[in-house]
Amino acid sequence: MVDPGAFIDEKVDEIRAELGDADAIIALSGGVDSSTAAALAYEAVGDQLTPVYVDTGLMRKGETDEIRETFAYMDSLRVVDARERFLDALAGVTDPEEKRHAIGEQFIREFETVAEEVGADYLVQGTIYPDRIESEGTIKSHHNVGGLPEVVDFEGIVEPMRDLYKDEVREVARELDLEAIIAERMPFPGPGLAVRIVGEVTEEKLDVAREATHVVEEELDEYDPWQAFAAVLGKATGVKGDNRVHGWVVAVRSVESRDGMTARAQEIGWETLQRVQSRITGENENVARVLYDVTHKPPATIEYE
Ligand code: XMP
Repeated sequence: MVDPGAFIDEKVDEIRAELGDADAIIALSGGVDSSTAAALAYEAVGDQLTPVYVDTGLMRKGETDEIRETFAYMDSLRVVDARERFLDALAGVTDPEEKRHAIGEQFIREFETVAEEVGADYLVQGTIYPDRIESEGTIKSHHNVGGLPEVVDFEGIVEPMRDLYKDEVREVARELDLEAIIAERMPFPGPGLAVRIVGEVTEEKLDVAREATHVVEEELDEYDPWQAFAAVLGKATGVKGDNRVHGWVVAVRSVESRDGMTARAQEIGWETLQRVQSRITGENENVARVLYDVTHKPPATIEYE
């Protein structure tokens, strides 16, 4: 890639030239891509940019607080608490693509509400090269590509990182002094924990997925995975104390990958796996068992839905 500093200078000039005095808006997802695009555009036009973070309730543990801290320097930041509305939109939805669709629709609605209030002329997006390729091939519907500007009539869409790969985005993020936690974090899917829950998304399953994913991220950090997380599969019998219980089955997944298109399940030491198991079942009384996923991509995908 080109030098990240030179890339930033070039994009800052381009964004300034394109926007002039106009206002712009960007949806911050909490991921590296939109965070980097927001920081880049903010560097260019300051408070002419309104970054909008929608708290869907589908994010990782502590993510909303991290967003508030990381972007505290942006006076124009908006944080929307939409947790209940997302749970309502997902109630009874079990089909993976319908789930993505419901989340995408709700996200658009939340975002449009703010966009209309702000009256922004331009939309900034953190689209990167693999997003565009996967969307063209319709491997799956990416809610963060091409779906946003439907009701709001933007004058233009700015995608400063549309030709970059993920590792290049990280370099740019580092150069922009984004908190290490954002720059170094594992990639996280747009639909969030919802694609790590097989079947209907409920508040209880979300809590299990969120806490268990937190444990997995901490414990498997030393293996330097591309992505490591926990998914909630369903229920099975277990024994807690003197009682037989019908508790959640949690799958742990840890993969190596370059760009997410293919991936290899990582070989993890038994002691580490046992520590993960004992923390997940110990910290949540409703989890009955923990499995480790040994499947590569292909034939499996990285996420569960
Ligand atoms: P899969 O599960 O398809 O995931 O092997 C490949 C990579 O893409 C991420 N992913 C998504 N990212 N919207 C996103 O922005 C999505 O709907 C989505 N689904 C999966 C996944 O985390 C992995 O890095």
